[in-house]
Parts: sequence; C-alpha cells; structure tokens
Amino acid sequence: MNPVVAIIGGTGLTSLDTLNITRRETRATPYGDPSSPLIWGELGGQTVVFLARHGQHHTLPPHKINYRANLWMLHHIGVKQVIAIAAVGGIRADMTPGTLAFPDQIVDYTWGRHCTFFEEDLSHVTHIDFTEPYCGRLRERLIQAARTLQLDARDTCTYAAVQGPRLETAAEIRRLERDGCDIVGMTGMPEAALARELGLRYAACAVVANRAAGKAAGEITMAEIEQNLVESMGKVKTLLARVIPTLDPA
Ligand code: HPA
Repeated sequence: MNPVVAIIGGTGLTSLDTLNITRRETRATPYGDPSSPLIWGELGGQTVVFLARHGQHHTLPPHKINYRANLWMLHHIGVKQVIAIAAVGGIRADMTPGTLAFPDQIVDYTWGRHCTFFEEDLSHVTHIDFTEPYCGRLRERLIQAARTLQLDARDTCTYAAVQGPRLETAAEIRRLERDGCDIVGMTGMPEAALARELGLRYAACAVVANRAAGKAAGEITMAEIEQNLVESMGKVKTLLARVIPTLDPA
C-alpha cells in the first residue's frame, strides 16, 4: 500500500520510535543514495514512511545531504505528502527554545546545492510556481493538531534557509531579521523546492532548539541544542500521532 505520508526527521529525530516498523528498504536513485534507508511502518492506522535526513547516525551535515535522492525516492514509492521536521534557531522574540513553528514562507540563502530536477536533458526550461512554498492544507492540519494538543506553537513565520554548517554571526541574524525572517535553519532548501517540483504536498514542523546568534547571552553550544531537542521531540511525536490519522489517504 502507498504510504499516506513521509516523515523526514531532522536533528534530534533520527528514528521514530512511535512507528510500528514493518520493513526497512535501502535503494539507490538516479541521483545517488538517499540519506538513510526508508523505514516503513504503521502509525495511527496509516502507512507511514520515515527517512532520517542527516543519516541513521546523524553523520551528514546540511550541505552534504542528497536532497534530490531523498525527494526522488519518496516520490518514486508513491508518497504524495511530506512532513519535514527541522531544528531551527529562533530569531523573533517569541521563538524561544521548545517552540514548534509551522512556517508559511522561506527565504533561501543556501548556495552550491543541487537545487532542481530540471537541469539536464530538458525539452523546455521549467519554472515552478513557488509563491506559497508549503502546502496550505497540510500546514492547516498540523496547526489544528498543535492547537488541539495545546502545544506552544506559531502558525505564521518565515524560515531563513542558510548554508551552514557553522552557525550565524550576530550581524547575519540581524540581516535575516531585517529581511523578515523569524526562524533560521540549514535544511529547508532545496528540500521544499524539490518537493514542489515533484508535485509533493510538503509542510514543515520547525523545532526551536536555541535562540539565534546574538539573541541570547553567551555562545550557542551543541549541548544546549541537543538538550532542547531531546525535550522537544516528545512534543513532535505527540503531534505526529495526532495529525497522521487526520491525513487524507494518498
Ligand atoms: N541557525 C541555523 N540553523 C540552526 C540553528 C541556528 O541557530 N539552530 C538549529 N539549527
């Protein structure tokens, strides 16, 4: 049976222990290997597939992820909708660690990544519409589920996709803020655009792991990020358990 939804897990979510796993599948694509095996399973009565964006053991940095292989594979197995989980830094004052955010816009600052399927053997040049980068219907389902669960969540915000793997300077964060960005992460692009190129319904659940550079006193440490993510991933799993049964069949 085609999966109803694919979950792409980010930092802090390399596996989904709430999934009743039925099989693991390792396959190559014309674009190379996906980040991890596909984990098929059942959650909330629905068939779900899970992919660990940074690899099973969290070894792939954001600029080394094969976004094309990941999205191509999901599309190939019949996935129609994707929920992307991603750790972010909080820029806007209310984006404090532990907050869940469902962005509705993106500004892309990444560079040098394979960012399209439309570049070789073209019969014509293709420009996809990306005015609304996330699927409104899927976002609405996520927001509704977060409200029902009374989670601390933000439903309108702009995601700055940066190159990484280093964190930003305080001046860079001030610039992102002037650009209208509310949260900052390293994996949102080209993932969202590739999903759109393939016609996948794609929405993101961002998890604020830290205040962005210059927004809190002191250095940002990996220990802080990891600790906050450990605490937040329980909320993400609760959210997924609530939202997945409400999703339309594929
Ligand atoms: N900046 C960019 N990406 C991130 C951050 C951050 O502060 N925290 C988690 N991912």
